[in-house]
Amino acid sequence: FTIQNKTVSESCPSNIALIKYWGKYANQIPANPSISFTLNHCKTNTEMEFLANEPFSVQTFLAGNEEVKFAEKIEKYFKSIEQYLPWILEGKYIIRTENTFPHSSGIASSASGFGAIAKCLMSLDEQFSIENSESSMINDQSSSILKKASFLARLGSGSACRSLYNGLVVWGESNEVEGSSDLFAVKYSDDEIHPVFKDFNDWVLLIHEGVKSVSSTVGHGLMNTNPYAERRFQEARENFVPMKEILKSGNIYEFIKLVEHEALTLHAMMMMSDPAFILMKTGTLEVINKIWDFRRETNLPLFFTLDAGANVHLLFPNDGSEEQIKSFIESELLQHTQKNGVVKDVMKW
Ligand code: PMV
Repeated sequence: FTIQNKTVSESCPSNIALIKYWGKYANQIPANPSISFTLNHCKTNTEMEFLANEPFSVQTFLAGNEEVKFAEKIEKYFKSIEQYLPWILEGKYIIRTENTFPHSSGIASSASGFGAIAKCLMSLDEQFSIENSESSMINDQSSSILKKASFLARLGSGSACRSLYNGLVVWGESNEVEGSSDLFAVKYSDDEIHPVFKDFNDWVLLIHEGVKSVSSTVGHGLMNTNPYAERRFQEARENFVPMKEILKSGNIYEFIKLVEHEALTLHAMMMMSDPAFILMKTGTLEVINKIWDFRRETNLPLFFTLDAGANVHLLFPNDGSEEQIKSFIESELLQHTQKNGVVKDVMKW
């Protein structure tokens, strides 16, 4: 079975985790389950041109500029998934990609990027069947194309596998989520989600633009020797119990407590690594303290989460209080960002 010359285009959004994935085993198996919101506006658009019967090579362009480092990463990724897609090394790829969010803003593009690439691979091979016994469970009749794309995206960047679905998405086996798997992500049932969570803002404050001092690959690896790792993995698994209840009941104040705890735990794990590292900046801490003061004074539901970086994701529902929250952000929080940087997104489905 071979693939003919073909050009395909796909788009995939980014996502932000509420219960975080930090730490993994071989073959991109997560040490604990995670759950995320998929964003609406922060997306990667990718065009993949496949030239069959040429020696294997990958050329990538980001917003029109050739990116050699990115091409090397994709080449490595394609080699790693040859066991699932036997034809993948039999041609040349020209990949043109652009993000709808600012380049090098520190917003992770790996989730949306690998999500879009996995979708392109699927469009190249419409018969798409993943070879290999480990993945037999995703080749059954009922397996959707998205499930297979999620499986492939996971092998590029773990968190990418959650970007294939909108709304709330779970990756990693959890007793609390039926059908959940370490191999691919599943959509969290819409029926189990209170309406308040179906229209939620995520404004990303760009505290620090630039390359992170420690990559997430290295960060995950440091969990192997972190003395708190096992307790953390256990806690994340346990956190699915209250999370499930909160999502159902719509208890926003319990949600805030859990989500902020998860974000701080992620960064606490970095501090307890050997060698230790800190990705938060002064601005990150200033913003967190201001959010807490604001909540104490107004009792309004503005809260934060953090990725593996200094930027602060500001979360708040569209429940009638959003105008007051937005003016607080504009007048009090933007000053802590570089060049008044904020990327406004929403999780709405
Ligand atoms: O997908 P990776 O390997 O870049 O890991 C990202 C992990 C966090 O973004 C910090 C948390 C998560 O669950 O998305």
